[in-house]
Amino acid sequence: MYPPTFTRGASQLPLDVDREFTTKAERLELELPVLPEASATILSETAKTDWSAAKVVDALKRDAALAAHLLRIANSPAFCGASPVVSIQQAVTRLGASHLRQLAVVIACETRAFEAPGFEADVRAVFRHSLAVALCAREIARQRRANVEAAFLAGLLHDLGWPVVIQGLSRVARGVPLPRDAVLERAEQLHASLGGAVARAWKLPEAVALAIVGHHDAAPDDPLTATVAFADALAQHAGGVPWPEERLLALPATRSLNLYPDVVEGLAKKSPELWAEAAQW
Ligand SMILES: [Fe+2]
Ligand SMILES: [Fe+2]
Repeated sequence: MYPPTFTRGASQLPLDVDREFTTKAERLELELPVLPEASATILSETAKTDWSAAKVVDALKRDAALAAHLLRIANSPAFCGASPVVSIQQAVTRLGASHLRQLAVVIACETRAFEAPGFEADVRAVFRHSLAVALCAREIARQRRANVEAAFLAGLLHDLGWPVVIQGLSRVARGVPLPRDAVLERAEQLHASLGGAVARAWKLPEAVALAIVGHHDAAPDDPLTATVAFADALAQHAGGVPWPEERLLALPATRSLNLYPDVVEGLAKKSPELWAEAAQW
């Protein structure tokens, strides 16, 4: 269920923990999750026009978990061709630069970067939702003939500030258990700006960072931010909080994207399929 459910004002964070955390967050002194080395290599290598499949294969050979995950996805219904992929080399060729880039980030997020002890179920829910938002954002970008990769990345990372806040608070509390509602309330308040900080730390395009920071803005006018905000609504619609079509149409993000009502209707109809696809990644 997304967003993680909690009661506002039900509990308070210890004042010293809250103060230390907010100061660190404001001064950008929080320890941010690190992109695993293999993912970082894939991101930088595939960004070149003459990228080398051999270098990507090399990076993957040094990271068995990432390689295994990538092989599984290359063999999933979304990518599987006539014959199954059996080697890393084949997987790299079949997926291509753009999918490799997306998967390098997806897998980094799913596996190691965002562990949050005691909040595993909440982080899993945020992650499942984020993948659905990534797929919806990519579909919106496709309809608008805009950059599908930026839309996917911004959608994928838009809510990753949630685990960053949860992790950061636990670290500041040095193992002392914190009240769940209060932690999630802070995460809701701060996740957009801290998610932007992660994107910048990972050297992702600035447009992606800006879309993450602005995804809860009242009236996003930048097209990528509006795409993520609209995809956020679509994913919630598909994930069990149905939005009536009038409400989807009336969203400032939908309006700023200038989408025709039949396009919005088509996207709303397609969203459950994308939600189900997110489960296979
Ligand atoms: Fe959000
Ligand atoms: Fe979201």
